[in-house]
Amino acid sequence: MNNVKKRVLSGMRPTGKLHLGHYIGVLENWKKLQQDNECFFFVADWHALTTDYNDPSKIREYTEDMVIDWLASGIDPEKCTMFVQSDILEHAELHLLLSMIIPIPWLERVPSYKETQESLSERDLTTYGFLGYPLLQSADILIYGADTVPVGIDQVPHIELTREVARRFNFLYGENTLVEPQSMLTATPKLPGIDGRKMSKSFDNCIFISDNPETVEKKVMQMVTDPHRIKKSDCGDPELSTVYAYHKIFTPGEKVAEIAEGCRTASIGCVQCKKILIQNLLSAFSGFRARRTELEKNRSFVNDIINEGKGKASAEARKMMERVRRTMKLK
Ligand code: TRP
Repeated sequence: MNNVKKRVLSGMRPTGKLHLGHYIGVLENWKKLQQDNECFFFVADWHALTTDYNDPSKIREYTEDMVIDWLASGIDPEKCTMFVQSDILEHAELHLLLSMIIPIPWLERVPSYKETQESLSERDLTTYGFLGYPLLQSADILIYGADTVPVGIDQVPHIELTREVARRFNFLYGENTLVEPQSMLTATPKLPGIDGRKMSKSFDNCIFISDNPETVEKKVMQMVTDPHRIKKSDCGDPELSTVYAYHKIFTPGEKVAEIAEGCRTASIGCVQCKKILIQNLLSAFSGFRARRTELEKNRSFVNDIINEGKGKASAEARKMMERVRRTMKLK
């Protein structure tokens, strides 16, 4: 057994207020990881530019909103380092140096490259920055010598690319300077949006963690249920109901079984089922909402946290850049 803490690093693009999918998938996992690892969590604000370069005006506001959501969720600045990517200019320097050694085809074959160009076809993503975005991600990771990168499945090819880039760097310059990170896949229960599709801001189907009780109630009441259950006396299939997908996460086990049975035998109606969910959602996030309201009133505290994180992250990034420059005989 060794008790050297693992270094964990992960980042999120600043998309503004976080929704329940982020909370269940990512934040709960970060909260666990911060207990016994050395964690660095950062806002990937430069990454936002790779797709939203035409209007960067919201990025700063979204960055703060996101850090507020992290803090209110229990990501603890005493236990981990929270920072903003653009505060640490060394990410850009490492990205530049790595851009000299990465063959363009490695970037062109990253699946997200073509996929995002297709899904965001209304934007011009034929830019140099967009092609290079997985390499910027590699720099984010390698500059902290991270061992473990918790990510969703869509990000795994980026971590694989990071390993390949680290190997190529170490091979070319003859020293084991860069650490090959492992991705850590989080088994995340999928939380659909209120219309049953993937929860996403662009579908306008999100429940935000910061939504007030009235909004949560309104959104749950709009949720889609089993489309074959037209009248309350029709028997339903809970597996076809978005409401039930939420119960599985937010409602205690024995009650979930009761709800499923009630749906199948038509002894509980959709409205009643939704009301139970509303109560459970509101109580699950009441602490969060109270903390968030306090933080909103105290933006200078939030900025202090970001600044403290900047100090800690920048010390690490500087150390690594000195090693990188020495390895390349630039210094
Ligand atoms: N690309 C990631 C995403 O879109 C965000 C990200 C940027 C990231 N840099 C990172 C995640 C470094 C993990 C490690 O979700």
